[in-house]
Parts: sequence; C-alpha cells; structure tokens
Amino acid sequence: MARPYVVLSVAVSLDGYIDDTIPERLYLSNDRDFDGVDALRADCDAILIGAETVRRDDPRLWLRSEQRRAARVAAGKPANLVKVTVTRSGDLDPAAKMFHQFIEAGKPLVYTTIEGREKLGDQLDAVAAVTAITDTDFWGTLLDDLGHRGIERLIVEGGTQIHTAFLSAGLADELRYAVAPLLIGQADAPRFVQPADFPGGSRRRLEFVDATVLDDVVVLRYLPKSTRSIPTGQSVTR
Ligand SMILES: NC(=O)c1ccc[n+]([C@@H]2O[C@H](COP(=O)([O-])OP(=O)(O)OC[C@H]3O[C@@H](n4cnc5c(N)ncnc54)[C@H](OP(=O)(O)O)[C@@H]3O)[C@@H](O)[C@H]2O)c1
Repeated sequence: MARPYVVLSVAVSLDGYIDDTIPERLYLSNDRDFDGVDALRADCDAILIGAETVRRDDPRLWLRSEQRRAARVAAGKPANLVKVTVTRSGDLDPAAKMFHQFIEAGKPLVYTTIEGREKLGDQLDAVAAVTAITDTDFWGTLLDDLGHRGIERLIVEGGTQIHTAFLSAGLADELRYAVAPLLIGQADAPRFVQPADFPGGSRRRLEFVDATVLDDVVVLRYLPKSTRSIPTGQSVTR
C-alpha cells in the first residue's frame, strides 16, 4: 500500500512561534481559520500530533462541523479521523481526550520505540493500538504502516519536533502555514521548526501554491517536496 499524502498544518505568530509559555492554551487562529483547518481535516483519514502537544494541550482532534461529520458518514467514512500520536518516553495519560472522545474511526494509534513500548507497558492498551517501531527509519515506517491501514491522507498538526521531523526527512507533501497577528517575543516559546538540515539547504525556495486572507489571519500553502520553485506568487484569494 502507498504511503499517505502528508499535509502539515500550523498556525504561527508573526515572529514565528507556535505557542507561548503561559500554561493556558493559546489559540493563534481565528474562527475562519479554525473552519479552514476543519475542512482540511475532513478531507483526511488520520490526524497526527506529538506526545508533547497531547500533554500540553490535551486536544480532542475532532471535526467541529456537524455537516462535515455527516458528509463523511454519508460517504462511508467514520465521522472523525483516526487519531495518531508518537512517543519515546511513554509518558502519555490514558485519560487524555484523544483516546476517549470522537473515536468513531477506532482506537487511536500510538507509535513508539522499543524502549518506549517497555516504558508504556500495557497502560495504554485499553484505549489505543500501540506499535513499536524497531528500525532506524521511524517516520518512513510509520507512514508505511498507516498506508497498510488504508490511510490515504494524513494531516500533521505539530508541534515543533514533529514538523521538523517531517520537513527535514522530506516527508511533507503540502504545508498549510497560517500567520496570525501576534508577537510572542518569548525566547523559550516553541517555534514552527528547530534548526535542522532541510532538503535543498537554506537557499532552496519551496513551491508556493496560494495565499488566502481570512480576516486577520493569512494562510500560505506550499509544496515542500516539489522541485519547482516560484520566486513570486500572485494567487491571493479573499
Ligand atoms: N500553533 C500550532 O499550530 C500548534 C500545533 C500543535 C502544537 N503546538 C504547540 O507545540 C508545542 C509542542 O511542540 P514540541 O516540539 O515540544 O512537541 P511535539 O512535537 O508536540 O511532540 C514531541 C514529542 O513527540 C515524540 N517524538 C518525537 N519524535 C519521535 C520519534 N522519532 N519517535 C518517537 N516519539 C517521538 C516525543 O514524545 P515523548 O516526549 O513522549 O518521548 C517528543 O517529545 C506545544 O506548545 C503546542 O501547544 C502548536
């Protein structure tokens, strides 16, 4: 089975951060952008986030729109997506919302290392399907496994480590990058990506698809795998 098409989705502040250091969850998006992400989720089969985002934000990873959920069911799909997370430490709370709410697509999937599997023991087995990945190509193996499970489109929603891993390994087909009008300004806050060796190096231009203005949020789309580079973009939709 083919690997899924991978869409990375992120909301960033004007100064490149994806969160601040205040414990309460920060929402960078506005209503129209949340709806855009909801529409993108509805077109996917699975949604993946890193364990740190599970611990910090405890998201439900659901489709907010009842209409979109109904349309999926009418098309023979589960109302919500297959939920996926990754951990090395095994530090995942079995009570996390992603394991209990909106799980019409079946038990959420947890991918881990051999060590992570040992640390986890059986504590997640009642709420998740845990897979230990033995080889060095963690992300490639994970995508192969998702492909075998029939996942054709995967949305990856962060955080920093996960976006960095997909982009540096050349595994992201599409990037949806929403810019929100905030200046976080905190050195310890997480950024979109960490320093890494990205394919093509620091001078490579990603192929631009389009830009959409959603009130005070601007959504940019790129094709990170494409070898075509376009120096200036003209396509702006309001
Ligand atoms: N603005 C946005 O669009 C957006 C979206 C999502 C998240 N965020 C923010 O991003 C921040 C979290 O980012 P983050 O970089 O700290 O964490 P993260 O990317 O959410 O998760 C990182 C964790 O994933 C696991 N992991 C990473 N690589 C792995 C591998 N190869 N094998 C197995 N497990 C692996 C590890 O879990 P263990 O530690 O358990 O080993 C690692 O600590 C939060 O502040 C969150 O709010 C923002």
